[in-house]
Amino acid sequence: MKVLRSIAELRGWSRALRAAGGNTLGLVPTMGALHAGHASLIDAARGSCTHVAVTLFVNPTQFGPEEDFARYPRVFEADCALAERAGADMLFAPAVEELYPHGAGSTFVEVPGLSERLDGASRPGHFRGVATVVAKLLIAGEPDRAFFGQKDAAQVAVLRRMSADLHLGTEIVVCPIVRDTDGLALSSRNAYLTPGERRKALLLHRTIRRIEALAAEGERHSATLLAAAHACFASEPEVRADYIALVDGETLEPVETAAPGTLFAVAAWVGTTRLIDNTIIG
Ligand code: PAF
Repeated sequence: MKVLRSIAELRGWSRALRAAGGNTLGLVPTMGALHAGHASLIDAARGSCTHVAVTLFVNPTQFGPEEDFARYPRVFEADCALAERAGADMLFAPAVEELYPHGAGSTFVEVPGLSERLDGASRPGHFRGVATVVAKLLIAGEPDRAFFGQKDAAQVAVLRRMSADLHLGTEIVVCPIVRDTDGLALSSRNAYLTPGERRKALLLHRTIRRIEALAAEGERHSATLLAAAHACFASEPEVRADYIALVDGETLEPVETAAPGTLFAVAAWVGTTRLIDNTIIG
């Protein structure tokens, strides 16, 4: 597996693939601390593209001033090993100055209307940073497809809109949430949890299963479903809900009645760690 550091190398590598003819490129953008969820994205890319590139960049512009940018896990060697094992052909790991040559506040991509919903409401500027860095990666790498996890459902909505609005020509592919055997959605931030907090964090999945069960029984009223979700959270006072929402999966606007495709999403603080999870109502 090749490791590239500069935009010029990324662009050159991608264009050489295209020039050789018959190749397609799948891009898997990540911030590193790779786990089985990332491996499933690489696997999906492998399944539908001839070549797969993983990007590894802890993006400063998507972190707020009080957030975990400094302590975000950075484990380059382990990430290289996992990406290679999962089948990546190339890993792009630029320095901050390479992606932001005029500083991190120079040019931004905004997706108003979506950016300030769900995680965007409690993390102002977060989706602006995500949209900006992903736009840079898609413009430089020109992939046919880019792969993201359903766990970041609001991010997916923002990136779909951004890619379509900017005519980037990259298909945004969304892959299912990968869970641990006990149901906890895999996340690089799970590494922050103490064993006790990890047990409490299972509340997110329990809540999701409760809502899925109610929806399967035919309950469609948002108010009833949300009340049930709040009742689950009341049973575990040490887990603090950030948001509990039923929204349209594309516009992220709240819905009064859940329909197929409606997104039920939660974000919660377990100690000092913020976790998210969701399900699509069937
Ligand atoms: O989902 C992530 O890991 C990040 O938000 C992404 C898409 C790699 C952008 O930094």
